[in-house]
Amino acid sequence: MDLTLHVWRQAGPGEPGRMQAYEVKGVNEHSSFLEMLDVLNQQLGERGEEPIAFDHDCREGICGSCGFLINGVAHGPLPGTTVCQLHMRHFRHGDALRLEPWRAKAFPVIRDLMVDRGAFDRVVQAGGFVSVATGSAPEANLIPVPKPLADRAFDAAACIGCGACVAQCPNGAAQLFTAAKVSHLGLLPQGQPERTARAVAMVEAMEGQGFGACSNYAECEAVCPKEISIDFIARMNRDYLKAKLKGVEKVPLGD
Ligand code: SF4
Ligand code: FES
Repeated sequence: MDLTLHVWRQAGPGEPGRMQAYEVKGVNEHSSFLEMLDVLNQQLGERGEEPIAFDHDCREGICGSCGFLINGVAHGPLPGTTVCQLHMRHFRHGDALRLEPWRAKAFPVIRDLMVDRGAFDRVVQAGGFVSVATGSAPEANLIPVPKPLADRAFDAAACIGCGACVAQCPNGAAQLFTAAKVSHLGLLPQGQPERTARAVAMVEAMEGQGFGACSNYAECEAVCPKEISIDFIARMNRDYLKAKLKGVEKVPLGD
């Protein structure tokens, strides 16, 4: 199949960017979207042109490194799928596709389709962990976890930190990501002692990173490759409000 790609090219942070068109011929429908870009990059290299920069690592939908907008949709048209797991059979001969980096103030462009998602790391650093006295590994079944809670915590823990939720949100809000990280620990018995402090620390860290405010568009849920529910946002808001009503202030966890 032949495609026309309109790709955002930007040489570096703060540099002016522009869309550049590429005619891509003979795309194998069994290749993944990133493999299609690999082939294009090889051709660009042979012509002495700069390859298109994009993030990737596992290419199995588990690491969260990949992601860009395809015709305005984060990770492209297939629900519940990262762009590395999107295959070219879902497109048609003659399609014109617009590839752009995540568009969000908190994710500045590094180059072409790559953005800096360090803001997510700083939210996790504020409380996305359980403080433990390290020692020998505890007995596996020492703390029983009810199955429904384990399942629910696992649903939240499925977040791979890709940033699609922020990119698709008209407000550039990070509530779905933060709620997933707050909830996967806050649902488990091991996460209870720091539950309120964690909610306060992570929500306030999120607010300090330049993300927008959530106004319930639910675009995040629609594009999340792990199909994380916005119910977790309600849960995080409840934990945060309860903590604030009790007068819990932001405290560094682990102290
Ligand atoms: S909540 Fe979904 S879209 Fe957002 S970072 Fe996690 S996996 Fe990606
Ligand atoms: S490259 Fe790891 S999720 Fe896509």
